[in-house]
Amino acid sequence: MISQETVDKIFDTARIEEVIGDFVQLKKSGSSLKGLSPFTNERTPSFMVSPAKQIFKDFSSGKGGTVVTFLMEHEHYTYPEALRYLAKKYNIEVEEDQQTDEQKESRNLRESLFLVNEFANDFFQKQLWHTQNGKQIGLSYFKERGFTPQIIKDFQLGYSPDDFEAFTTKALQENYQLEFLEKSGLTQVKGSKKYDRFRGRVMFPILSHTGRVLGFGGRTLQKEAKIAKYLNSPESEIYHKSKILYGIYQAKAEIGKADECFLVEGYTDVISLHQAGVQNVVASSGTALTVDQINLIKRYTRNITLLYDGDPAGIKASLRGIDLILEQGMEVSVVLFPEGEDPDSYARSVSTPELKDYLQEEKTNFLRFKARLLLEDAGDSPIEKSRAAREMVKSITLIPDALERDAYIQETAAILGLEERVLFSELGQMVTKKQEEEQRKIQRQRQREERNRPALSVVEQEEKSPDEEDHIHLSPLHQQERSLCWLLLNHGAKEFEFKALHESEEEPIEEPVAVYILTELANDELEFEHPIFKKILEKFAYYYNEQSVILQPEAFLREGDKTLMHAVVDLIADAPDLHKWEKKSIYPPAKDSFVPRYTQESILRLKEKKITQIIHSMEGALKQGQEPDEDTLKTLMDLNKLRVEINHTLNRVV
Ligand code: CTP
Ligand code: MN
Repeated sequence: MISQETVDKIFDTARIEEVIGDFVQLKKSGSSLKGLSPFTNERTPSFMVSPAKQIFKDFSSGKGGTVVTFLMEHEHYTYPEALRYLAKKYNIEVEEDQQTDEQKESRNLRESLFLVNEFANDFFQKQLWHTQNGKQIGLSYFKERGFTPQIIKDFQLGYSPDDFEAFTTKALQENYQLEFLEKSGLTQVKGSKKYDRFRGRVMFPILSHTGRVLGFGGRTLQKEAKIAKYLNSPESEIYHKSKILYGIYQAKAEIGKADECFLVEGYTDVISLHQAGVQNVVASSGTALTVDQINLIKRYTRNITLLYDGDPAGIKASLRGIDLILEQGMEVSVVLFPEGEDPDSYARSVSTPELKDYLQEEKTNFLRFKARLLLEDAGDSPIEKSRAAREMVKSITLIPDALERDAYIQETAAILGLEERVLFSELGQMVTKKQEEEQRKIQRQRQREERNRPALSVVEQEEKSPDEEDHIHLSPLHQQERSLCWLLLNHGAKEFEFKALHESEEEPIEEPVAVYILTELANDELEFEHPIFKKILEKFAYYYNEQSVILQPEAFLREGDKTLMHAVVDLIADAPDLHKWEKKSIYPPAKDSFVPRYTQESILRLKEKKITQIIHSMEGALKQGQEPDEDTLKTLMDLNKLRVEINHTLNRVV
């Protein structure tokens, strides 16, 4: 366990805007920073980071939280991983509390899987470098392939001995648990027998972009193998094939610098290119590229260059998948290698300058490349040509940037020998359709967000149509509770003048909003009903009563309670620029002047709702035939009178 002091230090030091800035391009917008959501594919920025509050809120996916939440959501880190990441970034020494055996055992699954993988990675490397079989079989294989000792070390390559349980036995001796060995796929259990999954293979550890061992690929050394050439770790809590790019850890810095990422198919392609001096390269490891993989690349660059071996059938098969890359707003280029060469073999057959020249000269923009391929197939047939044109327009429609789209249309028309006009009209139709779909989606998301805002004043509430009212999924009472929590969190410590609500000689009282709310509620012994709002109120009350402290919202952000943290973030998040929705929305005005009135109003309305609730339940009991005694009737009358009074004060006639 990371000590509480360290956790506090990390939270105190880390700047959310800096941390998120490494992943998302942020622009200043008022007192906040704004950018495109890294969790959805939006084109209008609705991702908000507040340096003052140290929170982020993504209005398109609904995610929000602290710097740690961001890392957990975006990087799929566990809580301790996120803390460690921050500690490293800010040079904070991590103090660990002493662990008991029990704590060790209860370490979560992901951490355990990382631990066994790290152990295995060490084990396989030791085998390769320091055992006779490792050197004679594994190391000499790598050397035969032309890998230098340095590159073997850089990629942490290893050897798994050709023995049924050499690894498993060693791991168990070192007190790694069979459960995790099995879940990581390193050990296969059949009845009472245990087998090393990767026995007799050379090992390629698959690292996350932070360098943790997610899994392995193992290559057999048997020539005329009846078994699979490569064997990979099975899917697990930490190994998700579709989210992994082989080589990203070694390549990421260079990808950023070169502002380009080469994409190849296999482990050995990555390694050979690296050795030849081309280090901005990763592999999708034998599968079609996924959106997750593209997004991983997108953190470092928008330029992807696909390296293909010169096999036309394979290229055509992969064309469709490439639309996916365009859709993510990436620039895609293609390099074809001569027939019979893959990046690995080609890189080894030429010098570094020759390789770099080749990549530079052969690089073709993907759409140009595709247009040419389609033209080759279409020949002179007009029908085939127009089919090719439509196919092209479909890809071009996916490009988010309008100017870029136009340029590609012109070029496609030229390559296919068709009139630009025809292609433009086709493009127009497809783009409109796509935009309409997107607009509808955004609107639905905005509406969902709006429903969860605190309701403001009587007037504004009544302006809403009954239809909209239907959508608000908090009950009227809970909405008032939410408004009061919103006030506590956003304005709790600010002092205002609260005027007496009745016509009276009473002097206005000046006090902090939180004190006013807590006192009012305590006087009437009111509690909140909604579990989350109740927790928020109770925490404010506790600190105020016990320590005379008015809590700051940050007090809720470091808690383990995720739902609570989430709710608080929602309550303190600034609204993003809402364009035309703004008019209809129920956002509080920018100035604070409304705060005292809104506070008093919210309390009154909470009371009104509470009273109504009591009246209803009493009336309900009476209807069920309960004899009304005098006391009950009197109470009912008093309550009704009170309700009328409150409503009168609220300036609203029932
Ligand atoms: N692959 C796999 N399982 C297989 C074959 C291939 O996972 N049975 C993946 C590996 O990631 C491999 C990539 O697909 O690196 C490309 O396959 P291939 O071209 O056959 O392998 P190479 O990388 O060229 O490997 P080698 O040069 O060692 O034959
Ligand atoms: Mn190969």
